[in-house]
Amino acid sequence: MSVAEAAPAAPSVAPTVEGEPLLRVAGIHTYYGKSHILDGVSLTVGRAEIVGLLGRNGVGKSTTLKAIAGIVHPRSGAIAFDGQPVAGLAPHTVARLGIAYVPEERRIFPYLTVLENLRTGLDRRGVSKARKAALLDKAYAYFPRLAERRAQFGGTLSGGEQQMLAIARAMMLEPKVILLDEPTEGLMPSMVSQIAQIVGALSREGVAVLLVEQNVPLTLEACRRVYFIEKGVVRHHALAAELSLDHSAIHQYLGV
Ligand SMILES: Nc1ncnc2c1ncn2[C@@H]1O[C@H](COP(=O)(O)OP(=O)(O)OP(=O)(O)O)[C@@H](O)[C@H]1O
Ligand SMILES: [Mg+2]
Repeated sequence: MSVAEAAPAAPSVAPTVEGEPLLRVAGIHTYYGKSHILDGVSLTVGRAEIVGLLGRNGVGKSTTLKAIAGIVHPRSGAIAFDGQPVAGLAPHTVARLGIAYVPEERRIFPYLTVLENLRTGLDRRGVSKARKAALLDKAYAYFPRLAERRAQFGGTLSGGEQQMLAIARAMMLEPKVILLDEPTEGLMPSMVSQIAQIVGALSREGVAVLLVEQNVPLTLEACRRVYFIEKGVVRHHALAAELSLDHSAIHQYLGV
């Protein structure tokens, strides 16, 4: 048998963008108490790349983002960001390195105004006044609706506006990657398309996005590559363009 014949069939996986990826998650295992949740999750996100993470309910999508954000510490495996190991670091340290995390529950401050919410993301050393003003201007340019409502309490915003505020606050950190957990959950279709546009705009500006979603069409439209997770294991990944042409993986891993 020739070497070529002996080699395993090439899996239908897409290459990442050129060079070392911005984010590399390698075989992480996490536990909640005795429950083994992530059973060796591996994935990569390239610079400015938009990557999707799909899977049924309870398979470990949010836990994967929490592990990258430093909220859940893997018992084993590695997470490298910009070539630096980050697994086990505290969430604020991970954020300072350039990983912003927007959780499913959005976690904006309901009794702070929109502007005050954004300022919490600017409250760090080494950022000049001019830079802070420029970042606020940028957020308002991305989200004109937040500009209109800058003096309003966060808690009075609609669900879609709160999601915009959560993303805008993440942008204040000037991250290299934003981890977005189901940003369009419960939103009206018009808001869903706005969120999709924002994700695209972030990428064009050089910010990578790791997107957990239930909305499959949106994921295929917004992302370059998509991973499928099943019971704490990444089973498959492919280019979104391939998945749009052939729905068999979506059917297999999501049952839709
Ligand atoms: N704090 C916790 N303590 C114990 N078990 C947890 C905790 N958080 C999540 N789990 C369990 O871990 C598993 C993975 O949860 P996770 O939230 O990562 O799933 P998910 O893929 O994001 O699901 P969903 O689609 O419902 O958001 C689930 O079985 C869940 O019940
Ligand atoms: Mg989740």
